[in-house]
Amino acid sequence: MQQQSLSSFSELHKRKLEIHLKEYVHKLKAPPEIKESMNYSLEAGGKRIRPMLLFATLAAFGEDTAKGLWTAAAIEMIHTYSLIHDDLPSMDNDDLRRGKPTNHKVYGEAFAILAGDALLTYSFQTIVETPDEFASAETRLSLIKVLSKAAGAEGMVGGQAADIKGEGKQLDLEDLEYIHVHKTGKLLECSVVSGAILANANEGTIQALSHFAYHLGLAFQIRDDILDLEGTEEIIGKPVGSDESKNKSTYPALLTMNGAKEALEYHIRSAKEKLKETGLQTELLEEITDLIANRDH
Ligand code: IPE
Ligand code: IPE
Ligand code: MG
Ligand code: MG
Ligand code: MG
Repeated sequence: MQQQSLSSFSELHKRKLEIHLKEYVHKLKAPPEIKESMNYSLEAGGKRIRPMLLFATLAAFGEDTAKGLWTAAAIEMIHTYSLIHDDLPSMDNDDLRRGKPTNHKVYGEAFAILAGDALLTYSFQTIVETPDEFASAETRLSLIKVLSKAAGAEGMVGGQAADIKGEGKQLDLEDLEYIHVHKTGKLLECSVVSGAILANANEGTIQALSHFAYHLGLAFQIRDDILDLEGTEEIIGKPVGSDESKNKSTYPALLTMNGAKEALEYHIRSAKEKLKETGLQTELLEEITDLIANRDH
């Protein structure tokens, strides 16, 4: 398959994903208020990095990216739920997300919690509804297993729990790496691994891609920590200095800003090395890796 440039690939797949997400929420038989609250955050204009990783992984195998739409939507639903809950007063207590007031600021805490719950559960239903021609029942089961592990206590929720527990404490690099790998890395890894599962990849290739995603996930969150200090509110679409105000452990706080930037470079370099080892057509994944290193929001 001819590889396209990342910008045309992203534009096309973002459009398809966003239509899919809209239709999925629209068809829910549920009180309009909960649908509105779900849609508000889903439509708020995220970068859609996780879906793009899934589609780019399918492309690396030369597979039809259409088969990834349901799982990509599911992962974006879980990611969006994690942000709605992350912003709650009892968590990071932030008022701005994706350049708009946070979900609880608009719909109140109860509806923000419920919209998160609804997105989380709907994600699994979405994967189940992948048409047979795109994923067998066995493949759908594998996808659900990987996603539930990545999203739950062994994954993102575990990382968020450690992040909250670590507030105001002086963590060491090992503790901080646990937080970053889990709260952020696991869903990114799941996006890549899901693409590989949909492509019927063998265990060895899935392992190699997981190693790539491990470094990518760390790089992604280190960049997020840097932007929390060096970014501007208009561009990152969320408050600057949020981490410091909550005494979070971050890479810049622990290693200094220069140390954090060196760690970012190291993980980007390692991610690219791991990608090469897969022997796949990884041009798009490589471009996404560079994007993550240099992103300004
Ligand atoms: C923000 O994720 C939360 C982290 C895991 C750092 P993104 O930076 O992918 O957020 P959106 O989806 O583009 O808003
Ligand atoms: C949150 O990390 C990661 C999630 C699982 C949502 P942060 O708390 O640093 O994310 P932002 O900066 O609010 O997007
Ligand atoms: Mg947080
Ligand atoms: Mg936060
Ligand atoms: Mg942050």
